[in-house]
Amino acid sequence: MNDIRNIAFIGAGNMTQSIVGGMCQSGYPAKQIWVSNPSSAKLEKLESAHGLNTSNDNHHVAKQADVIVLAVKPQLMADVCSDLAANVDLSGKLIITIAAGIRIPKYHQYLNDDQLTVIRVMPNTPSLVGEGVSGIVSDERAQASDKDYVTDVFNGVGETIWVADEDELDILGAVAGSGPAYFFEFMASLKKAAVELGFDSEKARLMVQQTCLGAAKMAQHSDLSLEELRKQVTSKGGSTAKGVEVYQQADIDNISSDAVKAAVKRNQEMAELF
Ligand SMILES: NC(=O)c1ccc[n+]([C@@H]2O[C@H](COP(=O)([O-])OP(=O)(O)OC[C@H]3O[C@@H](n4cnc5c(N)ncnc54)[C@H](OP(=O)(O)O)[C@@H]3O)[C@@H](O)[C@H]2O)c1
Repeated sequence: MNDIRNIAFIGAGNMTQSIVGGMCQSGYPAKQIWVSNPSSAKLEKLESAHGLNTSNDNHHVAKQADVIVLAVKPQLMADVCSDLAANVDLSGKLIITIAAGIRIPKYHQYLNDDQLTVIRVMPNTPSLVGEGVSGIVSDERAQASDKDYVTDVFNGVGETIWVADEDELDILGAVAGSGPAYFFEFMASLKKAAVELGFDSEKARLMVQQTCLGAAKMAQHSDLSLEELRKQVTSKGGSTAKGVEVYQQADIDNISSDAVKAAVKRNQEMAELF
Protein backbone atom coordinates (compact mmCIF):
# COMPACT_ATOMS: atom_id res chain seq x y z
CA MET A 1 0.00 0.00 0.00
CA ASN A 2 1.33 3.44 -0.91
CA ASP A 3 -1.27 5.59 0.81
CA ILE A 4 -0.70 5.18 4.56
CA ARG A 5 -3.15 6.99 6.85
CA ASN A 6 -3.84 6.83 10.57
CA ILE A 7 -6.72 4.37 10.81
CA ALA A 8 -8.90 3.44 13.81
CA PHE A 9 -11.13 0.38 14.08
CA ILE A 10 -14.10 0.66 16.45
CA GLY A 11 -14.69 -2.93 17.59
CA ALA A 12 -12.00 -5.64 17.70
CA GLY A 13 -14.15 -8.59 16.60
CA ASN A 14 -13.47 -11.33 14.06
CA MET A 15 -13.70 -9.09 11.02
CA THR A 16 -11.42 -6.38 12.43
CA GLN A 17 -8.86 -9.01 13.40
CA SER A 18 -8.80 -10.37 9.84
CA ILE A 19 -8.65 -6.97 8.14
CA VAL A 20 -5.91 -5.72 10.45
CA GLY A 21 -4.01 -9.00 9.96
CA GLY A 22 -4.20 -8.53 6.17
CA MET A 23 -3.02 -4.93 6.42
CA CYS A 24 -0.04 -5.79 8.63
CA GLN A 25 0.89 -8.69 6.36
CA SER A 26 1.01 -6.32 3.39
CA GLY A 27 3.38 -4.03 5.28
CA TYR A 28 0.99 -1.37 6.65
CA PRO A 29 2.81 0.22 9.62
CA ALA A 30 1.20 -1.13 12.81
CA LYS A 31 1.97 2.13 14.63
CA GLN A 32 -0.57 3.85 12.36
CA ILE A 33 -3.36 1.43 13.29
CA TRP A 34 -5.56 1.94 16.38
CA VAL A 35 -8.22 -0.49 17.60
CA SER A 36 -10.77 -0.01 20.39
CA ASN A 37 -12.97 -2.54 22.14
CA PRO A 38 -14.80 -2.54 25.50
CA SER A 39 -13.12 -5.73 26.77
CA SER A 40 -9.34 -6.20 26.69
CA ALA A 41 -8.60 -9.83 25.67
CA LYS A 42 -8.97 -9.26 21.90
CA LEU A 43 -6.96 -6.04 22.12
CA GLU A 44 -4.10 -7.80 23.92
CA LYS A 45 -4.09 -10.48 21.22
CA LEU A 46 -3.91 -7.85 18.45
CA GLU A 47 -1.24 -5.87 20.27
CA SER A 48 1.01 -8.88 20.80
CA ALA A 49 0.49 -10.23 17.25
CA HIS A 50 1.09 -6.96 15.40
CA GLY A 51 2.34 -4.29 17.82
CA LEU A 52 -0.49 -1.91 16.94
CA ASN A 53 -2.16 0.63 19.26
CA THR A 54 -5.18 -0.37 21.33
CA SER A 55 -7.56 1.24 23.79
CA ASN A 56 -10.83 0.59 25.60
CA ASP A 57 -11.85 4.13 24.66
CA ASN A 58 -13.51 4.67 21.25
CA HIS A 59 -13.02 8.44 21.52
CA HIS A 60 -9.28 8.11 22.05
CA VAL A 61 -8.69 5.95 18.93
CA ALA A 62 -11.06 8.01 16.77
CA LYS A 63 -9.19 11.21 17.70
CA GLN A 64 -5.87 9.72 16.44
CA ALA A 65 -7.30 8.71 13.07
CA ASP A 66 -7.85 10.11 9.58
CA VAL A 67 -9.96 7.04 8.80
CA ILE A 68 -12.49 5.42 11.14
CA VAL A 69 -13.74 1.88 10.48
CA LEU A 70 -17.03 1.15 12.23
CA ALA A 71 -16.90 -2.59 12.99
CA VAL A 72 -19.48 -3.19 15.71
CA LYS A 73 -22.68 -5.25 15.35
CA PRO A 74 -25.42 -3.41 13.42
CA GLN A 75 -27.73 -3.17 16.44
CA LEU A 76 -25.04 -1.20 18.35
CA MET A 77 -24.20 1.12 15.46
CA ALA A 78 -26.60 3.98 16.21
CA ASP A 79 -25.39 4.31 19.83
CA VAL A 80 -21.70 3.95 18.96
CA CYS A 81 -21.97 6.58 16.20
CA SER A 82 -23.92 9.13 18.21
CA ASP A 83 -21.47 8.75 21.10
CA LEU A 84 -18.54 9.35 18.71
CA ALA A 85 -20.24 12.34 17.11
CA ALA A 86 -20.88 13.90 20.52
CA ASN A 87 -17.29 13.51 21.71
CA VAL A 88 -14.95 13.63 18.70
CA ASP A 89 -14.55 16.20 15.92
CA LEU A 90 -15.16 13.98 12.91
CA SER A 91 -14.93 16.65 10.21
CA GLY A 92 -12.49 15.69 7.46
CA LYS A 93 -12.26 12.08 8.63
CA LEU A 94 -13.14 9.27 6.23
CA ILE A 95 -15.78 6.92 7.65
CA ILE A 96 -15.82 3.27 6.58
CA THR A 97 -18.51 0.91 7.81
CA ILE A 98 -18.61 -2.86 7.49
CA ALA A 99 -21.94 -3.41 9.26
CA ALA A 100 -24.51 -5.45 7.38
CA GLY A 101 -27.82 -3.89 6.43
CA ILE A 102 -27.38 -0.21 7.36
CA ARG A 103 -27.49 2.19 4.42
CA ILE A 104 -25.20 5.22 4.04
CA PRO A 105 -27.80 7.98 4.71
CA LYS A 106 -28.38 6.42 8.14
CA TYR A 107 -24.75 7.10 9.07
CA HIS A 108 -25.17 10.79 8.27
CA GLN A 109 -28.11 10.72 10.66
CA TYR A 110 -26.33 8.69 13.40
CA LEU A 111 -23.18 10.85 13.09
CA ASN A 112 -25.22 14.03 12.89
CA ASP A 113 -23.24 15.31 9.88
CA ASP A 114 -24.41 14.99 6.30
CA GLN A 115 -21.06 16.27 4.97
CA LEU A 116 -19.01 13.27 6.12
CA THR A 117 -17.64 10.91 3.48
CA VAL A 118 -18.98 7.42 4.19
CA ILE A 119 -17.83 4.29 2.38
CA ARG A 120 -19.77 1.11 2.99
CA VAL A 121 -18.02 -2.24 2.65
CA MET A 122 -19.72 -5.62 2.73
CA PRO A 123 -17.07 -8.27 3.31
CA ASN A 124 -18.16 -11.93 3.28
CA THR A 125 -17.23 -14.58 5.82
CA PRO A 126 -14.31 -16.14 3.85
CA SER A 127 -12.56 -12.79 4.47
CA LEU A 128 -11.84 -14.33 7.86
CA VAL A 129 -9.44 -16.73 6.08
CA GLY A 130 -8.12 -14.17 3.57
CA GLU A 131 -10.29 -15.43 0.66
CA GLY A 132 -13.17 -12.99 0.86
CA VAL A 133 -15.16 -10.90 -1.55
CA SER A 134 -15.88 -7.37 -0.34
CA GLY A 135 -18.54 -5.30 -2.08
CA ILE A 136 -17.87 -1.57 -1.77
CA VAL A 137 -20.05 1.49 -2.37
CA SER A 138 -19.50 5.14 -1.50
CA ASP A 139 -21.45 8.34 -1.41
CA GLU A 140 -20.63 11.00 -4.00
CA ARG A 141 -18.24 12.78 -1.61
CA ALA A 142 -15.58 10.05 -1.75
CA GLN A 143 -12.44 11.11 -3.61
CA ALA A 144 -10.64 8.73 -5.99
CA SER A 145 -7.82 8.53 -3.43
CA ASP A 146 -10.30 7.47 -0.70
CA LYS A 147 -11.66 4.75 -2.97
CA ASP A 148 -8.17 3.49 -3.80
CA TYR A 149 -7.28 3.48 -0.10
CA VAL A 150 -10.34 1.41 0.87
CA THR A 151 -9.74 -0.98 -2.04
CA ASP A 152 -6.16 -1.56 -0.85
CA VAL A 153 -7.28 -2.18 2.76
CA PHE A 154 -9.87 -4.79 1.77
CA ASN A 155 -7.67 -6.44 -0.88
CA GLY A 156 -5.75 -7.65 2.16
CA VAL A 157 -8.58 -10.12 2.91
CA GLY A 158 -9.48 -11.16 -0.66
CA GLU A 159 -11.01 -9.57 -3.74
CA THR A 160 -12.88 -6.25 -3.90
CA ILE A 161 -15.80 -5.32 -6.14
CA TRP A 162 -17.06 -1.74 -6.38
CA VAL A 163 -20.80 -1.50 -7.02
CA ALA A 164 -22.84 1.40 -8.38
CA ASP A 165 -25.28 1.80 -5.51
CA GLU A 166 -26.64 0.20 -2.36
CA ASP A 167 -29.29 -1.77 -4.29
CA GLU A 168 -26.46 -3.47 -6.12
CA LEU A 169 -24.74 -4.12 -2.80
CA ASP A 170 -27.90 -6.02 -1.72
CA ILE A 171 -27.47 -8.23 -4.79
CA LEU A 172 -23.77 -8.77 -4.12
CA GLY A 173 -24.70 -9.67 -0.54
CA ALA A 174 -27.22 -12.24 -1.81
CA VAL A 175 -24.56 -13.88 -4.00
CA ALA A 176 -21.21 -13.45 -2.21
CA GLY A 177 -22.44 -12.75 1.33
CA SER A 178 -24.90 -15.64 1.42
CA GLY A 179 -22.94 -17.71 -1.10
CA PRO A 180 -20.75 -19.59 1.38
CA ALA A 181 -23.93 -21.01 2.92
CA TYR A 182 -25.18 -22.12 -0.51
CA PHE A 183 -21.86 -23.84 -1.19
CA PHE A 184 -21.86 -25.52 2.25
CA GLU A 185 -25.41 -26.75 1.59
CA PHE A 186 -24.32 -28.23 -1.73
CA MET A 187 -21.10 -29.67 -0.26
CA ALA A 188 -23.03 -31.27 2.60
CA SER A 189 -25.47 -32.89 0.18
CA LEU A 190 -22.63 -34.22 -1.99
CA LYS A 191 -20.93 -35.59 1.12
CA LYS A 192 -24.18 -37.28 2.22
CA ALA A 193 -24.42 -38.94 -1.20
CA ALA A 194 -20.89 -40.37 -0.81
CA VAL A 195 -21.69 -41.60 2.73
CA GLU A 196 -24.95 -43.17 1.51
CA LEU A 197 -22.91 -45.20 -0.96
CA GLY A 198 -20.55 -46.46 1.77
CA PHE A 199 -17.80 -43.89 2.34
CA ASP A 200 -16.90 -42.92 5.88
CA SER A 201 -17.70 -39.36 6.82
CA GLU A 202 -14.11 -38.13 7.06
CA LYS A 203 -13.06 -39.34 3.62
CA ALA A 204 -16.34 -38.11 2.10
CA ARG A 205 -15.77 -34.63 3.53
CA LEU A 206 -12.17 -34.54 2.36
CA MET A 207 -13.09 -35.44 -1.22
CA VAL A 208 -15.89 -32.88 -1.34
CA GLN A 209 -13.99 -29.93 0.15
CA GLN A 210 -10.85 -30.58 -1.90
CA THR A 211 -12.92 -30.91 -5.09
CA CYS A 212 -14.63 -27.62 -4.32
CA LEU A 213 -11.30 -25.89 -3.71
CA GLY A 214 -9.83 -27.46 -6.86
CA ALA A 215 -12.76 -26.38 -9.03
CA ALA A 216 -12.55 -22.82 -7.64
CA LYS A 217 -8.81 -22.69 -8.37
CA MET A 218 -9.34 -24.00 -11.92
CA ALA A 219 -11.93 -21.26 -12.47
CA GLN A 220 -9.55 -18.67 -11.00
CA HIS A 221 -6.68 -19.68 -13.26
CA SER A 222 -8.67 -20.07 -16.49
CA ASP A 223 -9.84 -17.59 -19.11
CA LEU A 224 -12.69 -19.92 -20.11
CA SER A 225 -16.27 -19.18 -19.08
CA LEU A 226 -17.69 -21.31 -16.27
CA GLU A 227 -19.94 -23.05 -18.82
CA GLU A 228 -16.89 -23.88 -20.99
CA LEU A 229 -15.00 -25.20 -17.97
CA ARG A 230 -17.95 -27.41 -17.12
CA LYS A 231 -18.05 -28.76 -20.69
CA GLN A 232 -14.29 -29.32 -20.66
CA VAL A 233 -14.53 -31.70 -17.68
CA THR A 234 -17.60 -33.52 -19.07
CA SER A 235 -16.93 -36.15 -21.75
CA LYS A 236 -19.91 -36.92 -23.96
CA GLY A 237 -21.65 -40.10 -22.85
CA GLY A 238 -19.43 -40.42 -19.75
CA SER A 239 -20.31 -40.68 -16.07
CA THR A 240 -19.96 -36.93 -15.37
CA ALA A 241 -22.43 -36.21 -18.17
CA LYS A 242 -24.94 -38.52 -16.50
CA GLY A 243 -24.52 -36.76 -13.16
CA VAL A 244 -24.71 -33.25 -14.67
CA GLU A 245 -27.89 -34.25 -16.49
CA VAL A 246 -29.58 -34.91 -13.14
CA TYR A 247 -28.73 -31.38 -11.91
CA GLN A 248 -29.93 -29.86 -15.18
CA GLN A 249 -33.21 -31.79 -15.04
CA ALA A 250 -33.76 -30.36 -11.55
CA ASP A 251 -33.26 -26.93 -13.17
CA ILE A 252 -30.31 -25.80 -11.10
CA ASP A 253 -30.32 -22.37 -12.87
CA ASN A 254 -33.83 -21.64 -11.64
CA ILE A 255 -33.04 -22.89 -8.14
CA SER A 256 -30.06 -20.49 -7.93
CA SER A 257 -32.07 -17.63 -9.38
CA ASP A 258 -34.88 -18.16 -6.83
CA ALA A 259 -32.38 -18.45 -3.96
CA VAL A 260 -30.60 -15.19 -4.88
CA LYS A 261 -33.89 -13.32 -5.38
CA ALA A 262 -35.15 -14.52 -1.97
CA ALA A 263 -31.93 -13.33 -0.30
CA VAL A 264 -32.04 -9.94 -2.10
CA LYS A 265 -35.63 -9.45 -0.89
CA ARG A 266 -34.59 -10.24 2.68
CA ASN A 267 -31.63 -7.81 2.45
CA GLN A 268 -34.06 -5.08 1.34
CA GLU A 269 -36.44 -5.90 4.20
CA MET A 270 -33.61 -5.84 6.75
CA ALA A 271 -32.42 -2.43 5.53
CA GLU A 272 -35.89 -1.14 6.45
CA LEU A 273 -35.30 -2.15 10.09
CA PHE A 274 -32.66 0.56 10.55
N1 LIG B 1 -18.11 -11.83 10.42
C1 LIG B 1 -18.51 -11.70 9.15
O1 LIG B 1 -18.39 -12.63 8.34
C2 LIG B 1 -19.08 -10.38 8.66
C3 LIG B 1 -19.39 -10.25 7.29
C4 LIG B 1 -19.89 -9.03 6.83
C5 LIG B 1 -20.10 -7.99 7.69
N2 LIG B 1 -19.81 -8.15 9.02
C6 LIG B 1 -20.10 -7.00 9.91
O2 LIG B 1 -18.92 -6.67 10.62
C7 LIG B 1 -19.27 -6.14 11.90
C8 LIG B 1 -18.44 -6.87 12.93
O3 LIG B 1 -18.68 -8.26 12.80
P1 LIG B 1 -17.79 -9.33 13.57
O4 LIG B 1 -18.11 -10.64 12.97
O5 LIG B 1 -16.38 -8.86 13.63
O6 LIG B 1 -18.48 -9.22 15.01
P2 LIG B 1 -17.88 -9.54 16.46
O7 LIG B 1 -16.82 -10.57 16.34
O8 LIG B 1 -19.04 -9.77 17.36
O9 LIG B 1 -17.19 -8.16 16.83
C9 LIG B 1 -17.85 -7.03 17.29
C10 LIG B 1 -16.93 -6.38 18.31
O10 LIG B 1 -17.51 -5.14 18.71
C11 LIG B 1 -17.18 -4.97 20.08
N3 LIG B 1 -18.02 -3.95 20.69
C12 LIG B 1 -19.21 -4.12 21.34
N4 LIG B 1 -19.67 -2.93 21.78
C13 LIG B 1 -18.75 -1.99 21.39
C14 LIG B 1 -18.64 -0.60 21.57
N5 LIG B 1 -19.58 0.10 22.20
N6 LIG B 1 -17.56 0.03 21.08
C15 LIG B 1 -16.57 -0.66 20.44
N7 LIG B 1 -16.63 -1.99 20.24
C16 LIG B 1 -17.69 -2.65 20.71
C17 LIG B 1 -17.35 -6.35 20.66
O11 LIG B 1 -16.66 -6.41 21.89
P3 LIG B 1 -17.02 -7.49 23.06
O12 LIG B 1 -16.92 -8.85 22.43
O13 LIG B 1 -16.01 -7.21 24.08
O14 LIG B 1 -18.43 -7.14 23.44
C18 LIG B 1 -16.74 -7.22 19.58
O15 LIG B 1 -15.35 -7.42 19.80
C19 LIG B 1 -20.79 -6.37 12.07
O16 LIG B 1 -21.45 -5.14 11.89
C20 LIG B 1 -21.15 -7.33 10.97
O17 LIG B 1 -22.44 -7.07 10.44
C21 LIG B 1 -19.30 -9.31 9.53
